[in-house]
Amino acid sequence: MSPKRASLTLLSSIIVGLLSTQLIFQYPPCLKCLLELGLFTPSFFPDVISCCTQKSQHNQHHHHHHHHGNDSKSNSTICSDFPPDFPPPDTNTTSILCVDHNGCCNFTTVQSAVDAVGNFSQKRTIIWINKGIYYEKVNIPRTKSNITFQGQGLYSTAIAWNDTANSAHGTFYSASVTIFGANFIAKNISFMAVAIRVGGDQSAFWGCGFFGAQDTLHDDRGRHYFKECYIQGSIDFIFGDGRSLYDNCEIISIASPVPAGLKVINGAVTAHARASGDENTGFSFVNCTIGGTGRIWLGRAWRPYSRVVFINTFMTDIISPEGWNDFNDPARDQTLFYGEYKCRGPGANQSMRAAYVQKLSDAQALPFLNASYIDGDQWLQPFS
Ligand SMILES: *[C@@H]1O[C@H](CO)[C@@H](O)[C@H](O)[C@H]1NC(C)=O
Ligand SMILES: *[C@@H]1O[C@H](CO)[C@@H](O)[C@H](O)[C@H]1NC(C)=O
Ligand SMILES: *[C@@H]1O[C@H](CO)[C@@H](O)[C@H](O)[C@H]1NC(C)=O
Ligand SMILES: *[C@@H]1O[C@H](CO)[C@@H](O)[C@H](O)[C@H]1NC(C)=O
Ligand SMILES: *[C@@H]1O[C@H](CO)[C@@H](O)[C@H](O)[C@H]1NC(C)=O
Ligand SMILES: *[C@@H]1O[C@H](CO)[C@@H](O)[C@H](O)[C@H]1NC(C)=O
Ligand SMILES: *[C@@H]1O[C@H](CO)[C@@H](O)[C@H](O)[C@H]1NC(C)=O
Ligand SMILES: *[C@@H]1O[C@H](CO)[C@@H](O)[C@H](O)[C@H]1NC(C)=O
Ligand SMILES: *[C@@H]1O[C@H](CO)[C@@H](O)[C@H](O)[C@H]1NC(C)=O
Ligand SMILES: *[C@@H]1O[C@H](CO)[C@@H](O)[C@H](O)[C@H]1NC(C)=O
Ligand SMILES: *[C@@H]1O[C@H](CO)[C@@H](O)[C@H](O)[C@H]1NC(C)=O
Repeated sequence: MSPKRASLTLLSSIIVGLLSTQLIFQYPPCLKCLLELGLFTPSFFPDVISCCTQKSQHNQHHHHHHHHGNDSKSNSTICSDFPPDFPPPDTNTTSILCVDHNGCCNFTTVQSAVDAVGNFSQKRTIIWINKGIYYEKVNIPRTKSNITFQGQGLYSTAIAWNDTANSAHGTFYSASVTIFGANFIAKNISFMAVAIRVGGDQSAFWGCGFFGAQDTLHDDRGRHYFKECYIQGSIDFIFGDGRSLYDNCEIISIASPVPAGLKVINGAVTAHARASGDENTGFSFVNCTIGGTGRIWLGRAWRPYSRVVFINTFMTDIISPEGWNDFNDPARDQTLFYGEYKCRGPGANQSMRAAYVQKLSDAQALPFLNASYIDGDQWLQPFS
């Protein structure tokens, strides 16, 4: 167990305990395992809940029929709102694979579509994923580059799995979706549980959701772009050694509410893992909002050279007045880089900030302000 893990055990058991007593029995059985882990706020997922209501009715009748999902409705009803002539044929630069768990097109799982992508393809492969929650662990190996996951909206399409650091023998293996292939893009889709590990270079996420508790988004390594994403968690929920720009994202803490007057910290937005001064990694948050529950830090110095900046970001009073934490290692105060620039809201008050926090000058903020921070001009394509 790493020092990071050990120091978090108590916090996480408090949080998981609280969520499991409140929520599990109110929702259909297929959500139970996710809710037990405190993974997302169900009201955000009307489509998922109705899908699960159907699924639980289906399960009750299971002994009377043999079927695969064509049972209650005729196949034509299930697939009737499906785009005709879809997917279109390949072009010279793009091929489209279609995933639908009712069997309305070629693939019923995301992984089977990923497996069908050629190794080291120079074409872009768009994996179009219909509405629904796909319960599977998905792995995109290094050999599969240029893949796009196109969902139908972050509240409509999700990939979920229920591994924990314990069940998977380490946080690094517990992700529902693991991406090592370069040039990965995701649009309008959610990732749930210890949601995702992004270890490939040049990845972009547009309108995506990341739902977890502790350790939601493993921004592991490489240059990554997150635009208009919703990111939920409690402890260190964006962690790793990526070089990433978070642009217009909504960051929501689900740490337990802390009664006024109690000096408890029960979460942190980031745990950036820059380990030496030679690395050019760091997380930049621009034009984001931070809200939710608990009392949390903006970041903890998981490694000594941890680097994170928040720019033009609105923060509610869930941010503790000192703002940041050096992992209780004052030696790290000399090497970490934590900066804030033109942030707003009660959580952005600088008067009680830890001494090592930098109020960035215009010149200091400049390199972090836009996609040039991640060399976006070399690889980042516009949304459509
Ligand atoms: C639904 O029914 C059609 C035709 O009867 C069949 O080809 C298809 O495989 C079925 N799909 C599933 C998911 O069972
Ligand atoms: C649905 O089933 C009917 C026959 O029951 C078949 O003619 C039709 O092709 C099927 N459609 C799909 C999309 O499988
Ligand atoms: C696609 O590639 C073929 C063969 O390389 C070429 O003849 C054709 O003009 C290309 N089509 C387009 C639309 O670029
Ligand atoms: C998808 O299915 C169609 C027939 O329904 C088939 O012609 C096509 O080759 C399949 N595509 C893939 C990528 O499997
Ligand atoms: C990709 O390469 C692996 C071995 O590295 C091989 O097992 C697999 O079949 C290949 N996949 C395709 C679609 O060519
Ligand atoms: C595919 O990925 C390679 C690097 O892995 C990149 O050089 C190339 O530009 C990509 N092609 C497309 C169409 O995105
Ligand atoms: C994940 O869910 C499956 C099926 O519901 C269950 O068998 C398994 O124990 C769960 N794993 C964990 C770590 O909760
Ligand atoms: C998809 O994502 C884009 C970019 O964030 C957003 O503008 C658009 O509204 C999203 N569409 C849906 C259906 O969620
Ligand atoms: C910032 O906090 C200090 C002390 O907690 C308080 O006196 C001051 O009014 C606050 N500033 C703003 C702008 O809220
Ligand atoms: C991004 O910021 C850099 C300064 O770091 C500036 O030179 C560049 O013009 C900006 N690019 C855009 C597209 O605004
Ligand atoms: C952030 O917002 C400002 C003001 O609205 C805008 O000028 C800037 O381009 C935005 N930056 C990014 C990276 O979207």
